[in-house]
Amino acid sequence: MSTSRKKWLITGASGQLGREWSLALQRDGEDVTPCTREELDITDAGEMERVIGQHNPDIVVNCAAYTKVDQAEVATEQAEAVNAHGVASLARLCAGKHILLVHYSTDYVFPGLPEHRRLFPEGYPESFPPDPVNAYGSTKWMGEQEIRKSNCKHLILRTSWLCGKHGGNFVHTMLQLAQERDHLKVVNDQFGCPTFTAPAVHNTRALIERRLRGTVHLSSQGVTTWYDFAREIFELKGVDVRVEAVPSSGFPTTAARPKWSRLDIRQLAGVTGTRILPWQDELERFLQEL
Ligand SMILES: NC(=O)c1ccc[n+]([C@@H]2O[C@H](COP(=O)([O-])OP(=O)(O)OC[C@H]3O[C@@H](n4cnc5c(N)ncnc54)[C@H](OP(=O)(O)O)[C@@H]3O)[C@@H](O)[C@H]2O)c1
Repeated sequence: MSTSRKKWLITGASGQLGREWSLALQRDGEDVTPCTREELDITDAGEMERVIGQHNPDIVVNCAAYTKVDQAEVATEQAEAVNAHGVASLARLCAGKHILLVHYSTDYVFPGLPEHRRLFPEGYPESFPPDPVNAYGSTKWMGEQEIRKSNCKHLILRTSWLCGKHGGNFVHTMLQLAQERDHLKVVNDQFGCPTFTAPAVHNTRALIERRLRGTVHLSSQGVTTWYDFAREIFELKGVDVRVEAVPSSGFPTTAARPKWSRLDIRQLAGVTGTRILPWQDELERFLQEL
């Protein structure tokens, strides 16, 4: 069955992924209700029941999340309220109304031990047991478990290093910093893969179209470090700035970060209709569209 006849509801519609989803569906003439946090707060179960009851969607795409990784260490209850309890209420509601819940999780559910780079050179497979190293990752892992427990029809996409045109992300931060300084220090011992919101939406739609359920890893192709990612951004934009590679220890953050957070995307790649390009190619497209 084509997804073109479905009714969609997007939560977190003003975030970088939520904006991309809302615009993509609107562009294609789909029946979509984008809900910003002001229009639908997923920590308010009553409001969720009312808004979802009113629009009666077939598919809810949950782009709402508490995403401030460092702040989550101190505001853990707030992060948990959104990423775990809010998601649990949403999943129960979807289960009761037979709505497909499409949800995004993160590479930060994995421990990211340096030796996992050698053991899983292609990245963590979907079946690898999560063991987050920070509060944000823990709350996202709780949310995933709540969805599975609810027995709702669901598709959980674990994604990494997300960059969208609409919102704060590494690319925007690097370009901004390069205007302010002539020398930047960027960590070179955390490995992962950027994901851009336009292909993320395209590929998620392909999975929905093929009626995929369960948990699927979603990123571009390849692997890099934040340092090499930054260098590629400046190279492609022709920005002249000195980039110095530093270890994570030289760049202390409130929340610990996994050292290896590449996701194994072979399941995604095997699905008809998906289009996965090397991260450098996706970055080039992204920069052209900025
Ligand atoms: N960004 C990354 O690098 C990354 C990496 C891996 C996975 N992910 C996952 O990908 C998904 C999308 O991330 P993103 O980068 O698009 O995040 P984002 O730009 O921070 O957007 C999240 C949106 O959720 C909204 N929100 C927060 N609390 C809410 C609540 N209680 N009810 C309704 N909406 C609420 C936010 O609104 P306000 O702005 O008003 O707070 C914001 O619009 C998330 O599930 C995230 O965990 C992200």
